[in-house]
Amino acid sequence: MASGQSSFVQKHLTLIMANKLATVAVVLVGYMVAKLVYAVFLSPTKHIPGSLLDKTIGVRSGLSVLRGNKMHFAADQHRQYGPLVEISPGVMSCNSTTAAKTVYGSHQWRKSHFYSDFADFNGVSSLFSEVKPERAQILRRAFLPAFSRANLVAMAPNIFNHIHKFLDKLDEFERAGKPLEAYKWTRYLTFEVVTDVGFGGEYDMISSGELNHPFVMDFDGSSSWGLVKTVFPFASMVPDWMMGKKLADWRASELRTLKHAQGGLSQWRHHKQVGKTANRVDILQRLIEHGEKNPKEKLSEQELETEIMEIMLAGGDTTATTVTYGLYELALNQDVQEKLRACLRAEMPDSADVTLKHLEAVPYLDWTVKEMLRTHPTLPSLLERVVPAGGAQIAGYHVPGGSVVGMSAWSMNKSPKVFSDPLAFQPERWEKPTPEMAANMLTFSTGPRGCVGQNLAIVQTRIHIGTILRNFTVKLHPETTPEIMRTVDNFQGKPAQDRVLLYFRRTP
Ligand code: HEM
Ligand SMILES: *[C@@H]1O[C@H](CO)[C@@H](O)[C@H](O)[C@H]1NC(C)=O
Ligand SMILES: *[C@@H]1O[C@H](CO)[C@@H](O)[C@H](O)[C@H]1NC(C)=O
Repeated sequence: MASGQSSFVQKHLTLIMANKLATVAVVLVGYMVAKLVYAVFLSPTKHIPGSLLDKTIGVRSGLSVLRGNKMHFAADQHRQYGPLVEISPGVMSCNSTTAAKTVYGSHQWRKSHFYSDFADFNGVSSLFSEVKPERAQILRRAFLPAFSRANLVAMAPNIFNHIHKFLDKLDEFERAGKPLEAYKWTRYLTFEVVTDVGFGGEYDMISSGELNHPFVMDFDGSSSWGLVKTVFPFASMVPDWMMGKKLADWRASELRTLKHAQGGLSQWRHHKQVGKTANRVDILQRLIEHGEKNPKEKLSEQELETEIMEIMLAGGDTTATTVTYGLYELALNQDVQEKLRACLRAEMPDSADVTLKHLEAVPYLDWTVKEMLRTHPTLPSLLERVVPAGGAQIAGYHVPGGSVVGMSAWSMNKSPKVFSDPLAFQPERWEKPTPEMAANMLTFSTGPRGCVGQNLAIVQTRIHIGTILRNFTVKLHPETTPEIMRTVDNFQGKPAQDRVLLYFRRTP
């Protein structure tokens, strides 16, 4: 009797489930057909080239973000469909060499919601993530004094302190006959620099020699979480238990990173109170001064914490990746390396002479750094902007207002139309750059929302590369293959494997 009843219930349950599944299937198919009809007949971007699948739903683009190969996905679409291609509904990738000025040249092309999804921190937008031009302009005004020439010159001694600690490490590894894990150690180096010149932070990552420093680990988790939110904007509302351990931990690390930022701010205030640092050069100092001079534009505590986060996010890994790939290119191109060293030594026969002034008197160092930035742009992916109402003319197409267009440094920096032999590492090409080269080198983006910290990034890279190369020879370790160095696009590009082994030898 009991078993008969339960099989009766089971049968009905199965029927109900089958019905539900059928309903879900019908709804899904209906939805897809509606999307397809919209993409083909109604969408204001229906005339833009692109695969029907991508024009209908953004699933391939979303997957490419999760797989870390969005830039390759976009390049493939360009190969098939030309310089303007719709890669998900309403979102276009452009690699026309005449478009950068239109797309990035004015505040009218706002940043897309990608930025707020990715980098708003704790619900507060930073300069980087702010999509509203009015507030971005205020924040930029507050930032600019930090990157004035005078302030950068004042920051240089701080940067030299950290690179000297790094050289001690190189000696230690050389004495032990071991290669350096260049990516990890340059990350410590640039995180030390950026927290120091950012907010007077006193992290000692290089000397402590702790490879998996909690600060850097939390930071990685936190940016991964940001990327997840760009694909699933509602991820923040999903409870931990539904998310799986890894995702929950990424989200938790965002909170831990906030603690690091809050700690940084309170330490800064404490140092200031006890008069420890009278001549502050850090970015936070300049932001706070701006608020004192312009009370209407004063940043709240939360906004300051978010800016500290941003400084770490925008200024740490970007420079570390540039320096890592730069050292790798020098190891691959020994002729460039020898020429650079010869130029550095001609300018600085004694190493006591290694100063910013001397480094900047070596044009070959400038060209080499530019070539490093060109060949390995650390934000390789699409930088999205919203087309202003009224639309615009891009690569021969009318793109409607409200749709999104992005260009990428990965593509433009290697455009064969602009850069001869684009894959070769040739600092000499920067001796006499054409206007097209300058206009299509998008490593720092361009225009009113281009990298506000680029002069600091350049000064820092010159100091790191110049000081290391003055005294050391860099060689490849056999395990450091192109596959290890393959760039993964997590919005910030990074080598596919963290273990980038390089040998450094002091060179008399
Ligand atoms: C090699 C190192 C760096 C690279 C390749 C880089 C690249 C970029 C790019 C491409 C953008 C613009 C994004 C867009 O247009 O959508 C940007 C914005 C920004 N960067 Fe950098 N950056 C670097 C270093 C730094 C440093 C050292 C700082 C500061 C400490 C910094 C702070 C910022 C900020 C605050 C923004 C937002 C500016 C705005 O939206 O108005 N960056 N960066
Ligand atoms: C670089 O090498 C010179 C000798 O050529 C030495 O005097 C100097 O101390 C070294 N500098 C650094 C920073 O290691
Ligand atoms: C655009 O990208 C495709 C694929 O990478 C490339 O073949 C083409 O040369 C690029 N166009 C320009 C103008 O750089």
